[in-house]
Amino acid sequence: MNSTLAVIGGGNMGRAIIGGLLARGGDAACIMVADPSPDARAYLRAELGITTVSSNHEAVVNAETIVLAVKPQQMREVARDIAPSVARRDPLVISIAAGIPTASLTAWLTGGAAVVRAMPNTPALIGRGITALYATAAVKPAGRDAAESLLRTVGSVVWVQDEGALDAVTALSGSGPAYFFLFIECLERAGVALGLDPSVARQLALETAAGATELARTSALDPAALRAQVTSKGGTTERALQIFAAGGFEALVDRALRAAAARAQELSREFGER
Ligand SMILES: NC(=O)c1ccc[n+]([C@@H]2O[C@H](COP(=O)([O-])OP(=O)(O)OC[C@H]3O[C@@H](n4cnc5c(N)ncnc54)[C@H](OP(=O)(O)O)[C@@H]3O)[C@@H](O)[C@H]2O)c1
Repeated sequence: MNSTLAVIGGGNMGRAIIGGLLARGGDAACIMVADPSPDARAYLRAELGITTVSSNHEAVVNAETIVLAVKPQQMREVARDIAPSVARRDPLVISIAAGIPTASLTAWLTGGAAVVRAMPNTPALIGRGITALYATAAVKPAGRDAAESLLRTVGSVVWVQDEGALDAVTALSGSGPAYFFLFIECLERAGVALGLDPSVARQLALETAAGATELARTSALDPAALRAQVTSKGGTTERALQIFAAGGFEALVDRALRAAAARAQELSREFGER
């Protein structure tokens, strides 16, 4: 992307997107970041060679694409702040904030702004995220392409046609890395309880997670078939899986995702109020 890009909020996700863009040949001179924190600005200038400003208005005034990468509770103030510039130039606005509906964003931006809502996840920090995208009717095909190619710099991209699906996306892939971290922690602790050295247990848990994921990604078989393949009758895996089943593992995962999706809806009501 060599069109002008403004990133509002130079925190974890803002930096991940800028880093991804630069790693894929993006021109640092075309990017401007606004962040109130002098430390964040100093980091972005020194480490990524990006022009930084403290004023959101200054960042967006010449931007063709604007990424809103602030916390959901900051979004209303930020959107209202940049609304006059957006109304003048009609840039593409991409929000990555969890739970903020496009209807709220569009209202705060005072009218017919072209808004794409994105839900990335933290593996974006290493270019291995997955982002779900939803575009409002005001976004033209070129805007959809621009949003997709921007988010592709930090991993894979999927489109959803219904904005409501983003609550489920948030519950599955947005919060999902934490579920896998928890499972890795549990495997490691259980391995140590069985007598393994902590560093060995960690290595075994991490490599097993990475290897199993890669196998599931690349195999022609689906995960259930792969599981069946390694579960011999009367064997050790079968014994362990019986314990998971008896403890209601599947129902627990289902409840956890429903709770996360419900929380995403609550956030929409809390911070999306117009
Ligand atoms: N992290 C994730 O896994 C993840 C996944 C999907 C979506 N998201 C979404 O991504 C967004 C950013 O998350 P993050 O983890 O990158 O948060 P973060 O690290 O806290 O970054 C937000 C940045 O915005 C700055 N900021 C605060 N108020 C501002 C303002 N008025 N104008 C401009 N910048 C302002 C913050 O500065 P201060 O620190 O000084 O306040 C901070 O540097 C959130 O809306 C979140 O829902 C995050």
